[in-house]
Amino acid sequence: MKIAILKETQADESRVAVTPEIVKKYLSLWGENGVEIVIETGAGLRASFDDKDYEAAGGTIVKTANAALKNADIVLKVQRPNGEELAHFNDGAKLIGILSPFDDPDFLTQYAKGKVDSFAMDFMPRITRAQSMDVLSSQSNLAGYKAVIDATAHYGSAMPMMMTAAGTIAPAKVFVMGAGVAGLQAIATARRLGAVVTATDVRFAAKEQVESLGAGFVTVDEEAMKEAETSGGYAKEMSDDFKQRQAEFVAEHLKKQDIVITTALIPGRPAPNLIDDKMLDGMKAGSIVVDLAVERGGNVSASKPGKVVKRKGVSILGYANVAGRLATDASSLYARNLYNFIAAFYDKESGHINFDPADEIITGVALTRDGEIVHTDFAQQSEAEISSPSSTPTKSDTGDVKTDEEDQA
Ligand code: NAI
Repeated sequence: MKIAILKETQADESRVAVTPEIVKKYLSLWGENGVEIVIETGAGLRASFDDKDYEAAGGTIVKTANAALKNADIVLKVQRPNGEELAHFNDGAKLIGILSPFDDPDFLTQYAKGKVDSFAMDFMPRITRAQSMDVLSSQSNLAGYKAVIDATAHYGSAMPMMMTAAGTIAPAKVFVMGAGVAGLQAIATARRLGAVVTATDVRFAAKEQVESLGAGFVTVDEEAMKEAETSGGYAKEMSDDFKQRQAEFVAEHLKKQDIVITTALIPGRPAPNLIDDKMLDGMKAGSIVVDLAVERGGNVSASKPGKVVKRKGVSILGYANVAGRLATDASSLYARNLYNFIAAFYDKESGHINFDPADEIITGVALTRDGEIVHTDFAQQSEAEISSPSSTPTKSDTGDVKTDEEDQA
């Protein structure tokens, strides 16, 4: 059995799919059955894992992606491979990563044609058994924390209340929109720093979670919220009437805030637009808005992926891949998620992985198998028809207000 780990090729991707700790765990899982863990040189460098650390853990370093891919049974990635990498996959190789199939379903056709069995970890079902494999949760949690840290770095005031001989400093007011995994961590982090925190969500279940963290929950319509959660625990798209009332309420609330963190997502759909330019106009100079949904179309009209936009004194942070800005921890958790997934389907007798197609987890994550597209979201559509219902929308320019932009650091 050979497992290959490639260096990520996207410019803003600093994470890696295996850490030295997890190399050891794979070796111990396979034991006498034997497994070779082959890592492309430099794969872990941006996450502070050196080639030497991997070798010390029992991994083998090779010079190129092609060398790693040669005869590999399993390929572990963070983001999906590019066409050049894909061309070197073995027939029947299993690809495991955050494959974002809705962003570009053409890739599914390529996996199928290349006889690559692909597994999208971002499609992991939200069931108890799969919690330790849930990459969206592990990465969103870190993103929520980092969003607050990024905001404080740009904010020209202190977060906690401070009573000094020269006078009292008021605590920062932080508003979190979307209280899922990222939002709850943002609330907890802002509270720890001493801010006064309010939050909103469309799911009723979020109210209690927000309040248990010591933040205030604000909403326009509790009754509508009771209908807003799918059986999978995600949000549904809300009615136009709800959106209108939510927008009016938010516009008023924003005027009093210092830092706003938006995290709202709807699976398979573009992120809901929650803050338009007019609402930004009402905010105080010096306020900070962090749009964690920027790569999925954005919750804030003026945010731009990978940019810090300054607009009439308000800074709008649109950092891309925010979890990746904490590359060491993000890689450690991600690598553990992948290990837990593989270990759950490892067959000790044969030393092989048995990804049972009837298992709920595999039904959820498997995109292609034996040259066919098998995922229900895509399989019914012919190759020609596969078109994204939720292709990551590109953000257009944000109107006629003059803005300054800085590239992501
Ligand atoms: P997400 O990343 O899909 O969305 C973030 C948040 O935005 C959600 O709370 C959603 O309700 C909210 N949202 C959507 N539209 C909105 C709008 N118009 N205005 C305000 N908020 C809006 O969600 P995430 O973080 O992945 O979690 C969703 C739920 O799944 C949570 O309840 C979480 O606790 C649960 N969960 C369950 C797991 C399990 O049982 N294995 C694992 C991870 C999460």
